Amino acid sequence: MNKFTRNFPPREPTKPVQDRVEDLLSKMTLEEKIGQLQQVDASTIPVPDEFIAKISRGEIGSIINQTDPDICNAMQKAAVENSRLGIPLLIGRDVIHGFRTIAPIPLGQAATWNPDLVRDIAQVAAREARSQGVHWTFAPMIDISRDPRWGRIAESFGEDPYLTSVLGVAMLEGFQGNDLSAPDSIAACAKHFVGYGASESGRDYNTTNIPANELRNVYLPPFKALVDAGIATVMTSFSDIDGVPATANADLVEGVLRQDWGFDGLIVSDWNAIGELVVHGLSEDNAHAVIEAVTAGIDMDMAGGVYEAHLADHVASGLIDERKIDEMVSRVLRLKFDLGLFEQPYAQPDLYPPLTDKSAREIAYQAALESFVLLKNDADTLPLQSEDVRSIAIIGPLGDAPHEQLGTWIFDGLAEDSVTPLAALKATYGTQIKITHVPGLSTSRDRRHDQFEAAEAAARESDVAIVLLGEESILSGEAHSRADISLPGAQSELLQRVHAASRKTVTVIMAGRPLTIERDLPHTDALLFAWHPGTMGGPALIDLIFGVHAPSGKLPVTFPRSVGQIPIYYNHKTTGRPPVADDMVLIDDIEEQAKQTSLGMSSFHLDDGHLPLFPFGFGLSYADFTLSDLKLNHWTMRENESIKVSVKLTNSSVHAGATTVQLYLRDVSASVTRPVRELKKFRKVSVAPNSATDIVFELKPSDLAFYRRDKSFGPEAGEFKIWVSTNAQDGLSGEFQLAI
Ligand code: GLC
Repeated sequence: MNKFTRNFPPREPTKPVQDRVEDLLSKMTLEEKIGQLQQVDASTIPVPDEFIAKISRGEIGSIINQTDPDICNAMQKAAVENSRLGIPLLIGRDVIHGFRTIAPIPLGQAATWNPDLVRDIAQVAAREARSQGVHWTFAPMIDISRDPRWGRIAESFGEDPYLTSVLGVAMLEGFQGNDLSAPDSIAACAKHFVGYGASESGRDYNTTNIPANELRNVYLPPFKALVDAGIATVMTSFSDIDGVPATANADLVEGVLRQDWGFDGLIVSDWNAIGELVVHGLSEDNAHAVIEAVTAGIDMDMAGGVYEAHLADHVASGLIDERKIDEMVSRVLRLKFDLGLFEQPYAQPDLYPPLTDKSAREIAYQAALESFVLLKNDADTLPLQSEDVRSIAIIGPLGDAPHEQLGTWIFDGLAEDSVTPLAALKATYGTQIKITHVPGLSTSRDRRHDQFEAAEAAARESDVAIVLLGEESILSGEAHSRADISLPGAQSELLQRVHAASRKTVTVIMAGRPLTIERDLPHTDALLFAWHPGTMGGPALIDLIFGVHAPSGKLPVTFPRSVGQIPIYYNHKTTGRPPVADDMVLIDDIEEQAKQTSLGMSSFHLDDGHLPLFPFGFGLSYADFTLSDLKLNHWTMRENESIKVSVKLTNSSVHAGATTVQLYLRDVSASVTRPVRELKKFRKVSVAPNSATDIVFELKPSDLAFYRRDKSFGPEAGEFKIWVSTNAQDGLSGEFQLAI
């Protein structure tokens, strides 16, 4: 028995949560309050006795990185049955793109442009995670990512604020459902507030310098969308923004998130990010760092131990008012009540045994299928006709790599669950097609050529060579930024040698980021970009290659020609000298002793020009889609009026298929410079062979709103251009006036 009499809170679920919070808070000592603000790493096995003792003394409110249901339940039992007030633990885990059933990385999920599918993926993950004892995931990651050198672009939904907002809300809904206390819901966490994706040179944890207008028109909107959608928690970023680390940035956290937007959920630091304020050189020591973080509005210290070390002293000295601590603790307790932890705190592993649920695999399969982006398909190389193919060579280090295809941020997924492309090909066509497997390289980083001859021979003796290249999963994700984002190792050389020997080459690239693959394109007849496709990547890929389904993926991020073009993104500003293709003279066309102004005086690179290799929103299909008949029902939009934009989408091929129709706008002149295009609507549409369908979008003045020069938010009257397209570079255009 511990030294206090037992005083469990009343199990009265019907009592309003706030009453229960206040009732419980009134019984808590300062030490017990501070205990609730600690999240502690619980991965040490066997569990130290002192760890259980700390829990029993009410000194730990949350644990992270423990998902063995028996261990979670033992820790939970110590909290619920041994501590004086029986306050249950909040158990957190990074469930980023699946718990045990692994879906494509979020960047691949973004390539599906399918919010319903993203929601289903998160729901499967929530079901599997909650039953194993997890209450809280640290996702969706909604950092706008314009720099593919940054390893964490893999976890993002890409470069666009609108696509990121729509998919982030869908993921939130999948995780949280409509009742956090349900046995298949977990609390979600919008991260990393804010601007982490702007880390200089794409080097992780690096400085970010984001002007206020850019911050509010590009990086903040997805967080606002998720706050409005009811996100349960927010995590602040490691990075400093304009000289003040997000974890100490009261203007943004307390000012924008809490005061302007009214967010009253739990805010957690990133891993030891409070302690890192000292390393940043913002705080002279941890005691000062704690003051900064509490002032900024950080409720919970993730794995830093600094709240535990200094809060009581700061309250005793009057530096921090205990009422502030009460506010922070109230948000932790409210989340625990909302999650139903006082009624049912324990893991229930038999409820949803991971992976046994057939629908989980089907969703992972569908997600992989819709995530693949067809970037090249010369002479309709794909789909292969299985009756015409007698032999296939599977070549490359990622053709049978169950661990790699899962991608980054895999804590609970298992390589043994993966179905690889080789396994899927054998299972589906092994009796009718001769399959030869020659990796050619041992890993994606392998530089040795000693298997190249065997790879060439296999290609030469087969009807088709399917070459699977890319990045091992460890080359993407947190702390895994790359300065050179071409295919690692000797993969490009392998592809060239195989292509020279083969009659037909199909290349599949698995990676956690866009790669600079311009030099590889000439050495393949078809190219599918597969991101890291997850558990069911193999079956999905084989079904796509053989035309069981058509590819529908669209790029959620721009593919640069070279690293030198970065940052390159579609929604850039026009500048005072926008590039004009006809005026530009590129480096190979420059005459000798050319005159100073003879190359065109506009914004482009002499070697790479101004266009990317592949634009945002791009992706081919087996079907042949065309857009026509763009119509607006008004040419002037007035206050409280909308404009309907219609277009016809025709599929003039024998293949069924789906594509995403995208609506872009440009605010031609405004109080601040505006992007040349901004995605405002999109719709994924399936069209049967040789048929057409009409698509109608509705635009309102609120769709035109932005953070203006006078620091207010709203639309401005004037001319707008509009494009309806299947990528960010071309499309049918029109214009209208906003008259407000
Ligand atoms: C990591 C990441 C964060 C993650 C947390 C817990 O360092 O920055 O995204 O949720 O720590 O693992």
